[in-house]
Amino acid sequence: MINKKRYDIVIVLSVLQILFLLQLSCPSCGWAKERKKASNTCILCHTQLGKKTAEWVEQWRRSVHGESDVTCSGCHGGDPTSFNRPKTKDSGYVGAPSRRQVPEFCARCHSNSSWMRQFNKRTDQLSLYKTSVHGRRLLEEGDENVAICIDCHGRHDIKKYTDLESLTHHQKVAETCNHCHSDSEKMSPYDLRTDQLKLYKLSYHGQILYNKIPDKNPSLVPSCPECHGIHGAAPAGVTEVANVCGNCHTATNEYFSQSKHMEALIKQGKPRCIDCHAYHDILYPTSALFDGTEIYHCGNCHDVHQKEYNLGQKIKAAFVESEKRVNEVWEKVIQIEIDPGLDVLDERDDLETGKRMILEAVPVTHTLDLEEIEKYTNEILSTADKVEKSIDTRQEEFIIRKKGLFATLLILIIIIGFLLFKRWVLQLELELNED
Ligand code: HEC
Ligand code: HEC
Ligand code: HEC
Ligand code: HEC
Ligand code: HEC
Ligand code: HEC
Ligand code: HEC
Ligand code: HEC
Ligand code: HEC
Repeated sequence: MINKKRYDIVIVLSVLQILFLLQLSCPSCGWAKERKKASNTCILCHTQLGKKTAEWVEQWRRSVHGESDVTCSGCHGGDPTSFNRPKTKDSGYVGAPSRRQVPEFCARCHSNSSWMRQFNKRTDQLSLYKTSVHGRRLLEEGDENVAICIDCHGRHDIKKYTDLESLTHHQKVAETCNHCHSDSEKMSPYDLRTDQLKLYKLSYHGQILYNKIPDKNPSLVPSCPECHGIHGAAPAGVTEVANVCGNCHTATNEYFSQSKHMEALIKQGKPRCIDCHAYHDILYPTSALFDGTEIYHCGNCHDVHQKEYNLGQKIKAAFVESEKRVNEVWEKVIQIEIDPGLDVLDERDDLETGKRMILEAVPVTHTLDLEEIEKYTNEILSTADKVEKSIDTRQEEFIIRKKGLFATLLILIIIIGFLLFKRWVLQLELELNED
C-alpha cells in the first residue's frame, strides 16, 4: 500500500521533470514562449502605462514579429528581465529611433544573412532601399518626408505581405503609396503629380487588380511596386522604370525588338512602350491608335502624309478586314443555328479559332512588318472563307432535303387523298347497292 503511493509520487515527479527538460530544450515551443512573454518586463510594464501603449503591445502580439518571438528588446534593446525602465545609456537600449535611423534599426536583423537564413528571408532590403529615390533622399540629403520602412510596413503591427491585412499586400499597397503620393502639400516641394492612384485605377492593370474584370487574375498585374521596384529603384533586370513592361509582356516585347522602332529607341530613346500606351492610365488598346495626331497615336510622331503613317493605316486595314469578315460569317453561323436550327458546332469551333487568331496577331503589330502581319490576317480570312463555304454547302443540302421532304409529303398527301376518294366511291357504291 505504502509502496504504491511512493511509486505514484515518483512517477508524477518524473513526468514533471520531463516537462521541465522539454521546456529547456525547446525555448520556442508555444507554451514556453507564452511563459517567456508573461515574464517579459517590457511587456509587463508597458501594458500598464495606459490605453495607447497597451494597444501597441496588443498590435505587436498579433504582428509577424510577435508571432515569431522578436520581442520589444529585439528591436529596442534593453534588458527584458529588469524591472526598471531602461535608459538610453544602458548598454544596447536604442529607445525609439528617429526617422533617419529607422532603416539601419530594422536592417540590424534584416540584413543579417546568417540569422535571416533560418527564416528563409532575403536580406537585400536595405541595400536596395539605398538605390531608390526614397532611400537616396533620406540617406544622402536627410529628407525625412520620403518613405521609410515603417511607412510601408507599419510599426508594431507589421504583417507578412501575403497577409490580407498587411499594408504591403498586393491589393493594398497602392493605397499605402497613395497615402503620401496623393498629398499635394507633401508633394509640392518636389513638383510631383499627385494623381498616380487615380489614373492607375482607370488602367486595365488597375481594373484587374481591383477585380473589376471577371476571370482575370489580380496577382499577375503590376501594382506600384512591380513597376517601381519593391525596395530598389527598379525591379531586377530593368535599367529604367519605363522599360519594365517587357518583363511581363515578353512575347510583345520580342516582336517589338524586331522592329524599326527598336532601332530608333536605341538611337534616340523613342518610342518606348509608354509613348504609345501611357504608364499609369494604360487602357486596353484599340486600332484607333493608328489614326489621328492625338498623343499616343501614330500621327503624334509621324506626318499623316508620310509612309510610316500610311503603313499604320495598312496594318489597321488588314485587321479591320479580317475582323469584319469573321464577324460577317459569325452572323451567318448564328442565323443558320437559330432559323432552320442546324447543328453547326464544328463551324462554330473553327470560327472561334479564327477569333483567337486575331488576338494572337495583334501583338505582331509591334514588328511594323506588314508582310508578317498579313501572314496571320490571310490565314484568318481563309478560315472565315472555309467556314462560310461549309455553311453554304450545309444550307444548300438542307434546302435540297427540304424540297425532297416537301415532294414526299405531297406524294403521300395525294396517295391518302386518292385512297380517301376510293373509299368514298366504294361507300357510295355500297349504299347504292343496298338501296
Ligand atoms: C518600469 C516600467 C518600464 C519598463 C520595465 C520598461 N519601460 Fe519602456 N517606458 C516606460 C515609460 C514610463 C516610458 C515613457 C512613456 C511615455 O513617455 O509615454 C517608456 C518608454 C519607452 C520607449 C519610448 C522611447 C523612450 O525611451 O522614451 C520605448 C521604445 C520603450 N519604453 C521600450 C522598452 C523596452 C524595450 C523595455 C524592456 C527592455 C521597456 N521599455 C521596459 C516604462 C517602462
Ligand atoms: C519590429 C521592431 C519593433 C518591435 C518588435 C517593437 N517596436 Fe516599439 N517601435 C519601433 C519603431 C520603429 C518605433 C519608432 C516609431 C516612430 O518613429 O514613429 C517604435 C516606437 C516605440 C515607442 C514610442 C512610440 C511613440 O510614439 O512615442 C514605444 C513606447 C515602443 N515602441 C514600445 C514598444 C514595446 C513595449 C514593444 C514590445 C511590446 C515594442 N515597442 C516592440 C519598432 C519596434
Ligand atoms: C516604399 C515602400 C517600402 C519601403 C520604404 C520598404 N518596404 Fe519592405 N516591402 C514593401 C513591399 C510592397 C513589400 C512586398 C513585397 C512583395 O509583394 O513581394 C515589401 C517586402 C518586405 C519584406 C518581405 C519580403 C522580403 O524581401 O523578404 C521585408 C523583410 C521588408 N520588406 C523589409 C523592409 C525593410 C527592412 C525596409 C527598410 C530598409 C523596407 N522593407 C522598406 C514596401 C516597402
Ligand atoms: C530583432 C530582429 C528584427 C528586427 C530588429 C526587425 N525584424 Fe522584421 N522580422 C524579423 C524576423 C525574425 C522575421 C521573420 C518572422 C517569420 O517569418 O516568422 C521578420 C519579419 C518581418 C517582415 C515580414 C516578412 C514577410 O515575409 O512578409 C517584415 C515586413 C519585417 N520583418 C519588417 C521589419 C521592419 C520594418 C523592421 C523595423 C521597424 C523590422 N522588421 C525589424 C526580425 C526582425
Ligand atoms: C511617407 C510618404 C511616402 C510613401 C508612403 C511613399 N512615397 Fe514615394 N516619395 C515620397 C516623397 C516625399 C517623394 C519625393 C522624393 C523626390 O522625388 O525627390 C517620393 C518619390 C517617389 C518616386 C520618384 C518620383 C520621381 O520621379 O521623382 C517614386 C517612383 C515613388 N516615390 C514611388 C512610391 C511607391 C511605389 C510607393 C509605395 C510602394 C511610395 N512611393 C510610397 C513619399 C512617399
Ligand atoms: C505599369 C507600370 C507602373 C505602375 C503600375 C505604376 N507606375 Fe508610376 N510610373 C511608371 C512609369 C513608366 C513612370 C514614368 C517614368 C519616366 O518617365 O521615366 C512612372 C512615374 C511615377 C511617378 C513620377 C510622377 C509621375 O506621375 O509621372 C510617381 C510618383 C509614381 N510613378 C508613383 C506611382 C504610384 C504611387 C503607383 C501606384 C498607384 C504607380 N506609380 C504605379 C510606371 C508605373
Ligand atoms: C507584373 C507584370 C506586368 C507589368 C510589369 C506590366 N504589365 Fe501590362 N499586363 C499584365 C497583365 C497580367 C495583363 C492582363 C493580361 C490579360 O488580358 O489577361 C496586362 C495587360 C496590359 C494591357 C492590355 C492588353 C492586354 O493584353 O490585356 C496593356 C496595353 C499593357 N498591359 C501594357 C503594359 C505596359 C505599357 C507596361 C509598362 C509600362 C506594362 N503593361 C507592365 C502584366 C504586366
Ligand atoms: C513617340 C513617337 C512615335 C510614335 C507614337 C510612333 N512612332 Fe514610328 N517611329 C518613331 C521614330 C523616332 C522612328 C525612327 C525613324 C524616324 O525618326 O522617323 C519611327 C519609325 C517608324 C517606322 C520605320 C520607318 C523606316 O525607317 O522604315 C515605321 C514604319 C513607323 N515608325 C510606324 C509607326 C506606326 C504605324 C505608328 C503607330 C502605331 C508609329 N510609328 C508611332 C516614333 C514614333
Ligand atoms: C508605336 C506605338 C507602340 C509602341 C511603341 C508599343 N505599342 Fe503596344 N500596341 C500598339 C498598337 C497600335 C497596338 C494594337 C491595338 C489594336 O490593333 O488593337 C498595341 C497593342 C498592345 C497590346 C495588346 C495586344 C498584345 O500585344 O497583347 C499590348 C499588351 C501592348 N501593346 C504592349 C506593349 C509593350 C509591352 C510595348 C513595349 C515593348 C509596346 N506595346 C510598344 C502601339 C504600340
